[in-house]
Amino acid sequence: VSELLSQDIVVPELEIKGWVRTFRANRFIALNDGSTINNIQCVVDFNNFDESLLKRITTGAAIQVKGVLVESQGKGQKVEIQVSELEILGDSDAEHYPIQPKKHSFEFLRENAHLRTRTNTFSAVMRLRSSLSFAIHKYFNEHGFHYMHSPIITGSDAEGAGEMFKVTSLDSENPPRNEDGTIDYSQDFFGKETNLTVSGQLEAETYAMSLGKVYTFGPTFRAENSNTSRHLAEFWMIEPEVAFMNLAGNMDLAEDFLKSVIKYILSTNREDLEFLDQRLQDEDKRKPQAERSTMTLIEKLNFVTDNNFKRVSYSEAIDILRNCKPNKKKKFKYLINEWGTDLQSEHERFLVEKHFKCPVILFDYPANIKAFYMRLNDDGKTVRAMDILFPGIGEIVGGAQREERLDVLKERMAAANIPEEELWWYLDLRKYGTAVHSGFGLGFERLVMFATGMSNIRDVIPFPRTPQNAEF
Ligand code: 4AD
Ligand code: MG
Repeated sequence: VSELLSQDIVVPELEIKGWVRTFRANRFIALNDGSTINNIQCVVDFNNFDESLLKRITTGAAIQVKGVLVESQGKGQKVEIQVSELEILGDSDAEHYPIQPKKHSFEFLRENAHLRTRTNTFSAVMRLRSSLSFAIHKYFNEHGFHYMHSPIITGSDAEGAGEMFKVTSLDSENPPRNEDGTIDYSQDFFGKETNLTVSGQLEAETYAMSLGKVYTFGPTFRAENSNTSRHLAEFWMIEPEVAFMNLAGNMDLAEDFLKSVIKYILSTNREDLEFLDQRLQDEDKRKPQAERSTMTLIEKLNFVTDNNFKRVSYSEAIDILRNCKPNKKKKFKYLINEWGTDLQSEHERFLVEKHFKCPVILFDYPANIKAFYMRLNDDGKTVRAMDILFPGIGEIVGGAQREERLDVLKERMAAANIPEEELWWYLDLRKYGTAVHSGFGLGFERLVMFATGMSNIRDVIPFPRTPQNAEF
């Protein structure tokens, strides 16, 4: 359909298959095959078809039509198909079909995640998701990176945050126990305690230290019980890791990469973006003036590709937050005297949306609020971490230059209570040919949210995994 809709000439013989969106006046079928947001109008002359067949052209039905593509006589479309043959491939009981030709709430559609891509909004979002993932592979491929598959089942906790889903082949009701009552994992299939990966970073580091420039792109899991519009228990992460690159290089890479993938969809998925943009503008009109967006979706995307991200150290950010008055009278409750606390999302939002009004890269965070593997600065209290904050999203990227010095890394692990035996292979990298290296993790769904203007992360992944959503 996507190809047919761009035709200027008459196509004498064609055959297409798709799903009926609507059937109007016993004559006009709006057919969608998923290739584009646009339906193709198929015109049936009811004199030529059996009444019983016409009755089966219902919303949701799968059909095949044969006919001629001609310039449309009606308004609203350039071309249409004059149908000569029509076959019902799969009936749809219109009365019970959940996706009626009307506006459904996103909550309702989430409960019908298996059918929600039959709507314009979700098909557009998922085509954009697909294009973005292609753009990501394309970017890395064109920049000399190798795609690395990091394991899903691992024995290590890459983030040291203890938010892992356990994986075991042991009888969960009655696992073998050690004398002290703890589970005896030595009898497990893997012979030790294992979990679903929270990040492929540590494994990617091993490949960066041999293949030079690598990236992962795969599912990651966090057993955090957070019910927000930005957290999933299962999400996809892109993690590039580069040898001989410092934090400044890491920031350059992340910025160039984000701009490039957004540029890509602006050129390939224009119609989907225009549709989603219009949807957001319509939604905006129903809001009070003060809450309305100052930029359209496409303007926001162009803004990101055309402007430099603002680079600010954590300490500078704290100074800004201490001295500002976010709501005219009051200053922020936190952070007034406390250098060393993590930023809350309201602080991040203030910096990005009110203060700088552009994407922000925050760097050099206090060591105590960041992971053990980050490179300690000479001041002994900050690490070479970076977070990228996007308007409307907050943190979209987290990354760092890695600690390459064996002795310092050992100290940091000890301070974080991580046994050396657990990460002996990770320490090996610092024993044999260690070097400066850096990388970051991009939360794929957060990127899709930004690119589509969707406000709930559950609506940008096919089958969301959150504490409430595990139906499918
Ligand atoms: O900041 P995080 O936890 O960093 C890491 O995992 C590093 N190992 C990455 C690296 O340096 N290679 O996660 C990275 C990004 C976040 O910035 C966020 O965009 C996303 O992953 N993210 C989540 N997305 C959805 N749901 C969750 N529960 C997420 N947790 C993190
Ligand atoms: Mg983070």
